[in-house]
Amino acid sequence: MTTHTPNHPLQRVLAQIDEEARTLFGKGKVADYIPALAQVPPRQFGMAVALTTGEAFVVGEGRKPFSIQSVSKLFTFVMALKTCGDALWQRVGREPSGTRFNSMVQLESERGVPRNPFINAGALVVTDMLTTRYAHFDLAFLGKLRRLTDDPNLRWNPVVAASERATGHRNMAMAYFMKSFGNLVNSPELVLDNYCHQCATEMSCLQLARATLFLANGGRDLDAKGQPDEQVLPPDEARRVTALMLTCGAYDAAGDFAYRIGLPVKTGVGGGIVAVVPGRGTVAVWSPELDEKGNSLAGLYALERLVQLTGWHHD
Ligand code: DON
Repeated sequence: MTTHTPNHPLQRVLAQIDEEARTLFGKGKVADYIPALAQVPPRQFGMAVALTTGEAFVVGEGRKPFSIQSVSKLFTFVMALKTCGDALWQRVGREPSGTRFNSMVQLESERGVPRNPFINAGALVVTDMLTTRYAHFDLAFLGKLRRLTDDPNLRWNPVVAASERATGHRNMAMAYFMKSFGNLVNSPELVLDNYCHQCATEMSCLQLARATLFLANGGRDLDAKGQPDEQVLPPDEARRVTALMLTCGAYDAAGDFAYRIGLPVKTGVGGGIVAVVPGRGTVAVWSPELDEKGNSLAGLYALERLVQLTGWHHD
């Protein structure tokens, strides 16, 4: 993709947002329930836009890799739709939960069927399905992202993965609980290994924007030169993925995100957020300090400013 010079109008918009977003440093808090994530220096901000024309724009720390965490659930959801099709919907719903990303409250009354593929419980079921489908799902996941970013060096951070694996008691409880309802096929330990690997994957904003561009482009990826590449999903399925991002991508803040930004998003506790502007492109932001709902504080601000300054919206 072609990255742009300071004189391009969109690059100037991003430079302005970069400057404004940095004034929010100190107002949020880096995630610390995964001990290795608590070590990430807080005062960082990056942003990247990838357009379906093959152009890309980057500011701040937009080329620096960070822990994608729950943004990985977007890619696993896409892989599950592609490989398992509608069978997915027998094991996970597609309604907003209205609860925190790691809540268990609905699981008992709803007999181990999570509300949607983006809350932790739903993502664990998706990873379980993919664990059945692939001999080594974590490596298949990495391979998929390496293709989408054209970066053979993309990796997960083993320290972050081990840190979450050793302390993720709530996710372990959820996996065993769903197993008790028969909604987990593989061993919870194996599913958690795979889940911690996918969450610990590191990508930059530019890579994230590029890797999700197919969602803005009728399901078709673009290659490094901006030319049409793999049809990752049929157009209808790509539309459904963005619908779910709009309703469930920011958990119990999905309504607020829709009100303030109006674009389909997926957030992660590493401080990353990816947004899709259907037909036009994708936007990735990263800033590690989170708000009280666990979403990037400066990232949310930056996306709101971007739609204000460009008029981009979800048609
Ligand atoms: O399962 C967890 O708690 C983390 N690996 C991911 C959570 C996350 O990113 C939630 N998103 N805001």
